[in-house]
Amino acid sequence: MAKKNLNIGIVGYGFMGRTHANGYHNAAKFFDTPLVPVLKAACGRDATKLKAYADNWGFESTETDWRKLIKRADIDAIDIVTPNDSHAEIAIAAARAGKMVLCEKPLALNGAQGEEMVREIEKAGVPNTVWYNYRRVPAVTLAKQIIDSGKLGQIFHYRANFLQDWTISAELPQGGAGLWRLDAKAAGSGVTGDLLAHCIDTALWLNGSIVDVSAMTETFIKERKHTLTGKMQAVKIDDAAIFHGHFANGSLALFESTRYARGHKALYTLEINGANASIRWDLHDLHRLQFFDHSDEGIVRGWRSIHVSDGDQPYMKNWWVPGLQIGYAESFTHQVADFLKAAAAGKSLPPTFRDALETQYVCDAVLKSAKTKKWEKVKAVGKAKPAAKKAKK
Ligand SMILES: NC(=O)c1ccc[n+]([C@@H]2O[C@H](COP(=O)([O-])OP(=O)(O)OC[C@H]3O[C@@H](n4cnc5c(N)ncnc54)[C@H](O)[C@@H]3O)[C@@H](O)[C@H]2O)c1
Repeated sequence: MAKKNLNIGIVGYGFMGRTHANGYHNAAKFFDTPLVPVLKAACGRDATKLKAYADNWGFESTETDWRKLIKRADIDAIDIVTPNDSHAEIAIAAARAGKMVLCEKPLALNGAQGEEMVREIEKAGVPNTVWYNYRRVPAVTLAKQIIDSGKLGQIFHYRANFLQDWTISAELPQGGAGLWRLDAKAAGSGVTGDLLAHCIDTALWLNGSIVDVSAMTETFIKERKHTLTGKMQAVKIDDAAIFHGHFANGSLALFESTRYARGHKALYTLEINGANASIRWDLHDLHRLQFFDHSDEGIVRGWRSIHVSDGDQPYMKNWWVPGLQIGYAESFTHQVADFLKAAAAGKSLPPTFRDALETQYVCDAVLKSAKTKKWEKVKAVGKAKPAAKKAKK
């Protein structure tokens, strides 16, 4: 029987525009999905760059105004891969138009804006997901399986780092294409929303809610030339953020993210220590999971490095043959494949907008604590509303 199509309209054609388009191309080829994504339309403001992107990735059409894209009857799902300050407006309009919504992270500029997005998407009842893609790196998914099996026992510690070094130069301007991450208006925050948010999403998924935090942030370069005004302007983002806190399960959190760790380009590491076993993962070696099991016989006990490439391990039976690994791009392919399955059943795919709101609340508490220099409670998200109803007809 011929599979049904899911017509995608993507807004934005930068870094994430490429990872998502690649994911849409591959998902239904490697996974048995009930829906097949069709690259129906790409949207961006620069018609020339947009055309080059659309031609390269095989989009059928282009739009230079996202509002027009959302009005189109031939689009089923809107994928938002624009800077953070445009997520809310586009997502809310798309939900109101009855489109499914896939939104890049962080969900919003802050928790209050995120709440509005959750309200609107749940009112519209449309399937949704937020692209915290690291959940779908097979080694990280395997970590979730191992933790859920209870092998670790009582959890004592969860620590995570996300380290980069690309903003150390004081000559680097802020704002505009490519540098919007340094402009608080466009980004909402600095490393907290950009990098820590990834660590927080994975942590909430693996180890449950964070209840309170004590944080510090630093802005090392206080003024930078703004690309759009040509003037020196105050830098309002956090260049580095560090926090500790408590998880609801009683374990302790220790997190750090920075763009000033010379030598590190995108080093995301996490470690979780339980009474019986520990797990460690590192983005630079993303196909491996480090596992220590205290119940191993003493003479062979030690950290083992699991090469996650076997058919028994998450997602891997759909790829090559045991022993051959996959990489970063495939985490997006996995999210597309999982979304296609959920959407066909009228469901949202975790992390949903509501799940991503919890991450937003932790980010808010981190930024607030850094200002007040006090412990701050993380706002509770509350229960999800009934699942989205609108399946793909
Ligand atoms: N999941 C991840 O690991 C990951 C990684 C990088 C970025 N992101 C997120 O993805 C989003 C985009 O980041 P990026 O690195 O692709 O940025 P980018 O700067 O490479 O691309 C942004 C794109 O949005 C377009 N754009 C901006 N405003 C627009 C508007 N009003 N209408 C239409 N197009 C508009 C730009 O022209 C560009 O094509 C951000 O929210 C970012 O936080 C997520």
